Amino acid sequence: MAAKNYKIAVIPGDGTGPEVVNEGLKVLKAAAEKFDFTFSTENFNWGGANYLATGETLPADFKERLEKFDAVLLGAIGHPDVKPGILEKGVLLKLRFDLDQYINLRPVKLYPGVECPLKGKTPEDIDYVVVRENSGGVYTGMGGASLKGTPHEVAIQDMVYNRFQVDRCLRFAFEQVYKRHSKDKPWRGLSPEDIKAGKIGQLTLCGKTNVLTYVFDLWDRAFHEMAAEYPEVKLGYCHVDATCMWMVKNPEWFDVIVTENMFGDIITDLGAITQGGMGIAAGGNINPDGISMFEPIGGSAPKYTGKNVINPLAAIAAVGMMLDFLGEKKAAAAIDRGVAFVTGNKLASMAAGKMGYSTTEVGDLMVEQVKGC
Ligand code: IPM
Ligand code: MN
Repeated sequence: MAAKNYKIAVIPGDGTGPEVVNEGLKVLKAAAEKFDFTFSTENFNWGGANYLATGETLPADFKERLEKFDAVLLGAIGHPDVKPGILEKGVLLKLRFDLDQYINLRPVKLYPGVECPLKGKTPEDIDYVVVRENSGGVYTGMGGASLKGTPHEVAIQDMVYNRFQVDRCLRFAFEQVYKRHSKDKPWRGLSPEDIKAGKIGQLTLCGKTNVLTYVFDLWDRAFHEMAAEYPEVKLGYCHVDATCMWMVKNPEWFDVIVTENMFGDIITDLGAITQGGMGIAAGGNINPDGISMFEPIGGSAPKYTGKNVINPLAAIAAVGMMLDFLGEKKAAAAIDRGVAFVTGNKLASMAAGKMGYSTTEVGDLMVEQVKGC
């Protein structure tokens, strides 16, 4: 079979984005050589610096330009000289919405050797994924303001969902359970009774059915209706506030969590810090039928820009997720093992400037791991 060739659109973005993306691409090159595929990249300079220079967040034809690619790799978007909201809405969220990347998949995985702020928790305990709905909720910006600037100012921002959005997100989340586990390799958190009942893993709906009685009534009904199609999945439900508590106290209780957009935004920052912080947390904005975009979930970290001190592992893990999504499972697994080796045996810390290695040296360590695996 001819080796596959992947066309990757690269948006290095702002701040430390380009530095971490470079390391990601270095590892991608090593993986391609090792696992017999090829790739080409094209860079797009969208982000804060481009906005300040041109007044444009994304060009009008960005969608047509990106649709020629198999995936997008994003560094970071954010610039200290640009007012909050402009780049977030004009670049990052516009990419997610217009490319209909309706899933934001965020693994929360504690790698060996990584300092965890949760007392007594080990990599055994922290290994789950959050499926964040990525196309709806308050993020769609429905609402408005009136009487602005007066004491009677009104501001409304609605949490809007339709059944279609909820169903497609739940579908992806149920499927994740089967992607992670099987009858032969069930989730470690299941009880002997669960196994006996034929369960292989667990899906927890994170909501707020006690207050958001319209939106989460919809989610909850859709969840239970769809569950009938997935008898091997053990169902769980947590209110979002309790989810935060359990993510700290008993992260081992989670396998796959599914939730709406803003709850997912919030709980995945909490998840990221439990796995060692933004230096290591990666995510994928996924359109299963279109073009997906992979990113380190930290920001542009302007104060570390150009210093060769930022941790590139999140961007490298994002490359791993991208390869998994493209079907290069072995390459993805090699990167994952490489990250575990490098955190477990090399890095002193996940924090910028404290790794004991520079950004480029961490990339080199990963290249070595991928080549030698
Ligand atoms: C994230 C970020 C974005 C979000 C911001 C930058 C718009 O926090 O990717 O989690 O809220 O989704
Ligand atoms: Mn966020």
